[in-house]
Amino acid sequence: MSSPSATSHDDHDSVIVVDFGSQYTQLIARRLREIGVYCEIHPYDHAADLIDRLGPKGVVLSGGPESVNDFEPPRIDPAILNSGLPVLGICYGMQAMVKQLGGEVELSSEREFGRAALVPQQNASSCLFGNLGDSLSVWMSHGDKVTHIPDGFEVLAATRDCPIAACASANGRHIGLQFHPEVVHTEHGIELLRRFALDLCGCDPTWNPARIAQQMIDNVRQRVGSDKVLLGLSGGVDSSVVAALLARAIGEQVTCVFVDNGLLRKDEADEVMATFGPSNHFNLNLQRVDASSRFLRALKGKTDPEDKRKVIGKTFIDVFEDAAGTIDNVTWLAQGTIYPDVVESAATRFGKSHVIKSHHNVGGLPDRLNLRILEPLRDLFKDEVRKIGLELGLPAEIIQRHPFPGPGLGVRMLGEVKEEQLNTLREADSIFLHELREAGWYDKVAQAFAVFLPVRSVGVVGDARTYSNVIALRAVTTTDFMTADWANLPHSLIATIANRIVNELPGVSRVVYDVTSKPPATIEWE
Ligand code: XMP
Repeated sequence: MSSPSATSHDDHDSVIVVDFGSQYTQLIARRLREIGVYCEIHPYDHAADLIDRLGPKGVVLSGGPESVNDFEPPRIDPAILNSGLPVLGICYGMQAMVKQLGGEVELSSEREFGRAALVPQQNASSCLFGNLGDSLSVWMSHGDKVTHIPDGFEVLAATRDCPIAACASANGRHIGLQFHPEVVHTEHGIELLRRFALDLCGCDPTWNPARIAQQMIDNVRQRVGSDKVLLGLSGGVDSSVVAALLARAIGEQVTCVFVDNGLLRKDEADEVMATFGPSNHFNLNLQRVDASSRFLRALKGKTDPEDKRKVIGKTFIDVFEDAAGTIDNVTWLAQGTIYPDVVESAATRFGKSHVIKSHHNVGGLPDRLNLRILEPLRDLFKDEVRKIGLELGLPAEIIQRHPFPGPGLGVRMLGEVKEEQLNTLREADSIFLHELREAGWYDKVAQAFAVFLPVRSVGVVGDARTYSNVIALRAVTTTDFMTADWANLPHSLIATIANRIVNELPGVSRVVYDVTSKPPATIEWE
C-alpha cells in the first residue's frame, strides 16, 4: 500500500503500522499522524524488503480477528522482530509477538469487550505507564490472552480479567498492549502512543499541515515541471483541496473541468464556480459543463441502484472525455484520491473486505484518457486533507461540508430519477440543511440529507384531500462512515423542518425521520 507517486513524506521520521485486519488499523495510523509522526499502513504479508525500503523508526502491529492458535495464523515478519526497531503490538499484534518470541497465548473462557480498569505495575522498569495514575480506563476487545510472557519480558499492567494486559521486553523495545490505545475510550491512549513514537522510537514530530502543504506544492512543481494538468472538480472536499493545491503550485498550467450532472444539491454548481472561477483568488482555468440533460436521458427507465451508479459513472466519463478533448497538450490527470481509498482498494483487491456498494465513480477514466496520474493527497487521511485545505485558504464551509456521494441525488431519489421531482428533493434537502445550520446541528452530525420516496400518501390541505410524495430525512453521527448512528435531533427541530417542507413544497404530503443505524441499514437509502 505504499504510494509510488508520493514523496511528500521523505523528509519525515516514520512509523509503520502492520495490518492484521483490525477495524482500528486506520485509527492507529491517524493517531500517530495527529502526534506529528508520518505513518503508513502495510498488510502483514508485506514485501520482504519493507523495513529496508522505508527506513521507519518503529513498527506498530495492529489487532486482528484471527487467533494465534489457529492453523497457520497471520505471522509477523521475523525481520521486524529482529530489526532492533521498537515494536508495539496491540491486541492480536501483542499476542502474535509474544507467541513468536516464545511466550504463550490461550483462548480465554470469556471474551473481554468494552471498558476495563487497567492497573500499571508500579515497580516496572519500563516507563511507558509512568505518571499516568494508579488505574486507567482502557478499551478491550479480545478473546485470546497472553498467559506466559517470553523470557526476559516483564508484565507492565493488568486488568481484573487479564493479568497480562501489557508487557515489555527487557530492553523495553518490544511492547505489547492487550487493550486499544488508539480508541478515544482509552484514557491516556494518545499519550501511550506518543511515548512510543517520540520517546522510544525517537521520532521528530514534523508532520504538520503547514509543512505538508508546502512539501506537496514543491513535489507537484517538481513532478509536473511545465506540463499541463487536468482536474475533474466536483466541489467535494478532496477535489477542492487538490484544486487549491494545484492553483498554488502551478497556477495557469491547470485546467479544471466541473461537470454539472443535474444531480447536485441546491446552488452547489454556482458555489463551485464562485469559489474557484476567475473572479476568486484561486483564479483557476475552470470549465463548467452543463450535462444535466445528458445524465437524465441516460438514467431514463433505470431503477436499480447499482445500474444507476454505473450509468452515472459512465456518463461522467463520456462527458469528461469530451471536455478533455477540447483542452490541448495536457499530460497529467489530477485526482483527489486519499489514503483510505488506497488502503481500502488494496484490502478489496486482496479479498480482505466486501463491497456493498460500488463507490468508485470514476473508475476507468485514467485509462481512457491516457494521461499520467497525479494524486497529491494519496498519503493523507480526510482530517489531514481538511487541515491542508484550510491552510491553503479554502473557506471553512467547503472544508467542513458533509460528504456527498458521486452519484448525488441520483441515489437519493429512489427508483427512477425524474426531472420534475428532482427539484422537490433539492428544495427539501436545502430546507433541511438550512434549519440544521440555524439550530447549530450541522456540524454535530456527520451527514444529513433528504431522500425522495416515490410512494404516494394521503394528506389534507384546507378541506381538500391531497395524494402526494413522501420525503425521508436522514441524519447520522459517525467518524468513519463504516458504522453510524441515527442522529438524535431535537423533536422540535424535526417538527420545524417537516412543517416547512410540507408547507413550502406542493408535491410533498408527508415527512418521515429515519431512525435506523448502520448496520443494518446503510447511510444512503440506495
Ligand atoms: P453507505 O450508504 O454505503 O454510505 O452507508 C457510506 C458513505 O459513502 C457515501 N456513498 C457514496 N459515495 N459514491 C460515493 O462517492 C457512491 O456511490 C456512494 N454511495 C454511498 C455515503 O454518502 C456515505 O458518506
